[in-house]
Amino acid sequence: MTKTPFAPEVARSLLTTYGSPLYVYQETVLRQTLDRITKSIPYKQTQFHFACVTNGSIPLMQIFHNCGWGLHANSPGDVYLGLKAGFDPKQIVYSGSNLNPTEMQQLLDWGLGKFNLDSISQLQLFADVATKTDKIISNLKLGLRLNLPELTGDSRIGVHPDEFPAAAKIARQSGLRLGGLHFYRGTGTNATAAFTQVIQQLIGICQLLPDWEYLDFGGGFGYPYHHDGAAFDWEKFGAELTTALQSLPQSKTLIIEPGRSAVAACGCILATVVAVKWQGEKQLLGVDTTVANLSVPSVHGGYREIVTWEQPVRGEQQNAPNVYPTDVCGNTTYSRDYLGRNCLLPALQPGDIIAILDTGAYGYAMSSHFLHRPRPAEVLITANGEDRLIRKREDYSVLLSNQVFG
Ligand SMILES: Cc1ncc(COP(=O)(O)O)c(C=O)c1O
Repeated sequence: MTKTPFAPEVARSLLTTYGSPLYVYQETVLRQTLDRITKSIPYKQTQFHFACVTNGSIPLMQIFHNCGWGLHANSPGDVYLGLKAGFDPKQIVYSGSNLNPTEMQQLLDWGLGKFNLDSISQLQLFADVATKTDKIISNLKLGLRLNLPELTGDSRIGVHPDEFPAAAKIARQSGLRLGGLHFYRGTGTNATAAFTQVIQQLIGICQLLPDWEYLDFGGGFGYPYHHDGAAFDWEKFGAELTTALQSLPQSKTLIIEPGRSAVAACGCILATVVAVKWQGEKQLLGVDTTVANLSVPSVHGGYREIVTWEQPVRGEQQNAPNVYPTDVCGNTTYSRDYLGRNCLLPALQPGDIIAILDTGAYGYAMSSHFLHRPRPAEVLITANGEDRLIRKREDYSVLLSNQVFG
């Protein structure tokens, strides 16, 4: 079993102070992860941008900022949060999809300078909007998101290289520089080869752009949620990418925009056991959180390891710790309200604490009011060991907000 994220007295004290369930983030873990990722790509012209679709908590985004990272925005809301966190608009790369003209205008008004667009139609809209502003449009950096099924899979996103000449024409006619290629491999694979094998082909595709300046290698880098399973090899990826880019006659900018691989490890959810029942040898733990607080395991079939601080009783026969197949069940009767299935846990009692690990990415950011449970609080354990509330627990009034009724 993976070790617990901090000492039991810390878990208990956090729940006493802030209530249960609780999202907890560790600054030290986040900084260590960023340090590792940053050092893994020695190529000098590399810019790291945090994909805050995974976690929009301002104090965490500020740690990324403080570590010298920029921001990757998937939506105007990502940009809004990034600006509130203190990022300069020029440190934000937009690589989203399907904006309307007002939103396109808003991104330009906010001062963003780098846009990776998803379709010829969005490029045309961008050109129409940008040429009406008083910006010096040659300062804007434009890229295209790539759609090439053998590299990007069966994806709705992106522009096929066959369409590059049409895109180049729109850019040229509007005085815009089309200089970037944005690649997104797809979410969360730990197969390093899936990234390293495509480097040369991507560089070849970049050369089809009229003013190639940068390659945005996207996110989608895996995270080892199964702690004993495969892990994405950042060092191998960084070394191969560096070699390939260094061999080019002119230096190009490399953008990397990790989401889960950067922020998953630093977060966990603490929850309290409220009910226990047994079906034969299987333990059913009822806990005080729900899939609405963490949708990934139930809705997307993801796995998050669940651990506890309670020590298993030693088995009399083999002197082995007694752990049992355990389903960790949420606090509603929704048929999919499982936080984990067939976890191996000791026999627990109401009042015991569990931790759902690696929930820093796509955790709170994907939580909802489905099942009408207000959302938990978020706490940051700072690098000097202090705990700090970074988002308040909601109360029932949130369920009424914006409703209009007599
Ligand atoms: C363009 C782009 N970059 C990066 C990310 C982050 O992905 P991941 O968390 O898999 O690294 C996303 C996720 O939606 C994305 O759409």
